[in-house]
Amino acid sequence: MRCAFVTVIAAGLIACGEGRPQDPDLAAWKGVETGVVIEQAEPPIAGKVVFHRRGCQQCHTTDGSRWIGPSLNEVYGTERPLTDGTTVFADEAYLRESILHARERIIKGYRGEMPMYERVISRPEVDVLVAYIKSLRPDAGPDDAQP
Ligand code: HEC
Repeated sequence: MRCAFVTVIAAGLIACGEGRPQDPDLAAWKGVETGVVIEQAEPPIAGKVVFHRRGCQQCHTTDGSRWIGPSLNEVYGTERPLTDGTTVFADEAYLRESILHARERIIKGYRGEMPMYERVISRPEVDVLVAYIKSLRPDAGPDDAQP
């Protein structure tokens, strides 16, 4: 009887957590104001928190699987194919531009569905988002590693 009760609670918890274990970085900063997170957390961790608070994960995964937008662990330090047939090297400046003015360059195979964040998110938020996206590819060389 007691086991059945515990099972019901466990099932309920899994349902509430959307079936995924809570990310410890997100849990650690839960309820803390974004400005404070940016001040106190390591930039890539603060970026992860902003990424979730700003809803980027509604369109982007970070594990290589395609969603509405490209997975962001395959971007920094690579050549990005654009719809106009050209490519652009994804350095820090590119990441910044892609976040602020997404619709100016569209990645091949995707549609320009990403909102323009220029008037929406603050500069410190963009800084930590860039740090986070860079941290997803730790093996990518520094910006000047461009071929
Ligand atoms: C409504 C869906 C949507 C949301 C929300 C969204 N994006 Fe995007 N994003 C896209 C799509 C679609 C593309 C590919 C088309 C393009 O280049 O605009 C893209 C492209 C990108 C790129 C360039 C990827 C590449 O392959 O070079 C980056 C970087 C990026 N998004 C970051 C973000 C960040 C950071 C946020 C949150 C602040 C965010 N996106 C929110 C849909 C979205």
